[in-house]
Amino acid sequence: MPEENITSVLTEKRTFSPLDSFIKQANLKKEEYERLLLKANTNFEGFWSDLALENLHWFKKWDKVLEWNEPFSKWFTGGKVNVSYNCLDRHLEKKSNKTAIIWIGENEEKRSVTYSELYEEVCKFSNVLVQLGIKEKDRIVIYMPMVIEAVVAMLACTRIGAVHSVVFGGFSTEALADRINDSKARMVITADGSYRRGQIVPLKLNVDEALKKCAAVEKVIVTQRSKNNIEMKSGRDYWYHEVISKASGDFKAKELDSEQPLFTLYTSGTTGKPKGILHTTAGYILWTTLTTKWVFDIKDSDVYWCTADIGWITGHSYVVYGPLSCGATVVIYEGAPNYPDWGRFWKTIQENKITIFYTAPTAIRAFMKAGLEWVKKYNLSSLRLLGTVGEPINPAAWMWYQKNIGNEKCPVVDTWWQTETGGILITPIPGITSTKPGSATFPLPGIFADVVDQNGKNIHGDQGGYLVVKKPWPSMIRTIYGDDERYKETYWKRIKGAYFTGDGAKKDKDGYFWLLGRVDDVIKVSGHLLSTMEVESSLVNHTAVAEAAVVGYPHEIKGEALCAFVVLKQDSVNKDHHLLSEELKKHVAKEIGPVAKPDQIKFTESLPKTRSGKIMRRLLRDIASGKQTVGDTTTLEDAGVLEKLRTQEEE
Ligand code: WTA
Repeated sequence: MPEENITSVLTEKRTFSPLDSFIKQANLKKEEYERLLLKANTNFEGFWSDLALENLHWFKKWDKVLEWNEPFSKWFTGGKVNVSYNCLDRHLEKKSNKTAIIWIGENEEKRSVTYSELYEEVCKFSNVLVQLGIKEKDRIVIYMPMVIEAVVAMLACTRIGAVHSVVFGGFSTEALADRINDSKARMVITADGSYRRGQIVPLKLNVDEALKKCAAVEKVIVTQRSKNNIEMKSGRDYWYHEVISKASGDFKAKELDSEQPLFTLYTSGTTGKPKGILHTTAGYILWTTLTTKWVFDIKDSDVYWCTADIGWITGHSYVVYGPLSCGATVVIYEGAPNYPDWGRFWKTIQENKITIFYTAPTAIRAFMKAGLEWVKKYNLSSLRLLGTVGEPINPAAWMWYQKNIGNEKCPVVDTWWQTETGGILITPIPGITSTKPGSATFPLPGIFADVVDQNGKNIHGDQGGYLVVKKPWPSMIRTIYGDDERYKETYWKRIKGAYFTGDGAKKDKDGYFWLLGRVDDVIKVSGHLLSTMEVESSLVNHTAVAEAAVVGYPHEIKGEALCAFVVLKQDSVNKDHHLLSEELKKHVAKEIGPVAKPDQIKFTESLPKTRSGKIMRRLLRDIASGKQTVGDTTTLEDAGVLEKLRTQEEE
């Protein structure tokens, strides 16, 4: 971690206040927000206690709100609760015929289930799991496409108290086997295959391969989706539709301890072995429920679509648990955003009259690159709120989203959070916060996030520092599964007395938080610590640029120099690269100063990204410094990108 503070060079002056029409109908109003802030400051445990009572169903109330033994927290101890009860049973009285999930397959298929149908399916599947020998706290790996059965599987685990670990359906056999072994799973739930850009992904085949290395797995349940040929091993493999057809539709939700493990989810991190992030029951469902209400302003009439895969934390918290706990109608889509063409998302919004749309900056930039004509074809007037998550959103992409997708009438919530935080921590509240493009604005009530230097001292003004959280919160990571030491080392050793997020941030004079990317991506050029994200943001602000990634490489004089990998917009790809390169360097020098001017610009068709869309700057650093890539590339979306980049001419 660098010794000095980060120099922040970008300034953004535009602000957008919530519209009166939105303010009037918002779930969280200003007076209530201020009351919550005050309560969290003056009576921290009372604040959480009130919210837990108002927002969840409890079989038994807790004895203690918080047991804090840094860095280990226990929330609502002595309480009894069930996540699937909160997502299903409690809605049956008023919403049994309300649509819970609208599923859209890649080949235009559509299927919906109501709350009562989902409830019955989850009860049946809970019976199946128990009959196949699953007990409380057993681990189950879910390796499935975006289908309703995947949600059923997750909810059934929570109903019986089993711990799920969802592995993204795009991961390879090797990544799957590692995760199955690390979690010591007894069961895998999968599908025969799934569709991705018209191809069948052979999920069951991958499971068969992985299980050659995973001795602990006893049973496999297979959903039929793509009807490709698969082998079923007798005594181990069961068809979902066969076992569920015989199961009873009654299953009383188990009364589970608040701190019962709920799920583990593996994050790849930038290096080394994936970490199994452990979340537990009550605190997680409390915070995902609350944030869905506050940040997405969810209403009974909404049709809500978060485009994340259930293999990521966003899919857990804001496709499944938060929205279902709020009794919302949720859209899930199986396939690729650009299949059969770049109009897919906008067509889906038009056809389903989607009102709330939550996606990632990487997707937004890809749509910008594809061109506005795809957006213009469709009627997006049903939308009333837009969200983003996953990376800093550069102001140019924010403005494009707000203008072209939101028609300048939808609030944009740029939500900062992590797999480890379980739910959103820093975000605008749509009926309250005036937004600034590129800023995640403020921590939510109850969240004591701050920006500090390496000694834990507050940093004010435009200086960048380390983003930390100074008090525990209910949906925080409990530990890294099976590795308390690594948990302490990763999150609690760096800054005394605070959870260290690994991200750089600054607070501007109005107290707005600006995320500056991972601190590992900060580089030192001629004595200044620069956040590469700000240089990227400036490049993307140029009309020719769709996407950019900036990394440092060793330089004899400057110490480190900047190399920018640039993806051009469709209408600029044929421009003279040499001239454009000079123009871009000048553009950055003018926008943020000569110190940030890239020394090298490499044009490329695409950037190496993880499957969840994060740019893998570590690999680009190797390329920029002429090294062969070392380290883990199993999370890379398209391995061909690296080869192309290596052979690229410098401009
Ligand atoms: C980054 C995704 C800036 C950040 C929910 C964080 C963001 C990491 C934002 C976690 C945002 C996520 N602005 N950066 N709005 N949201 N990040 O675990 O670096 O996949 O630490 O969780 O993504 O990624 P993860």
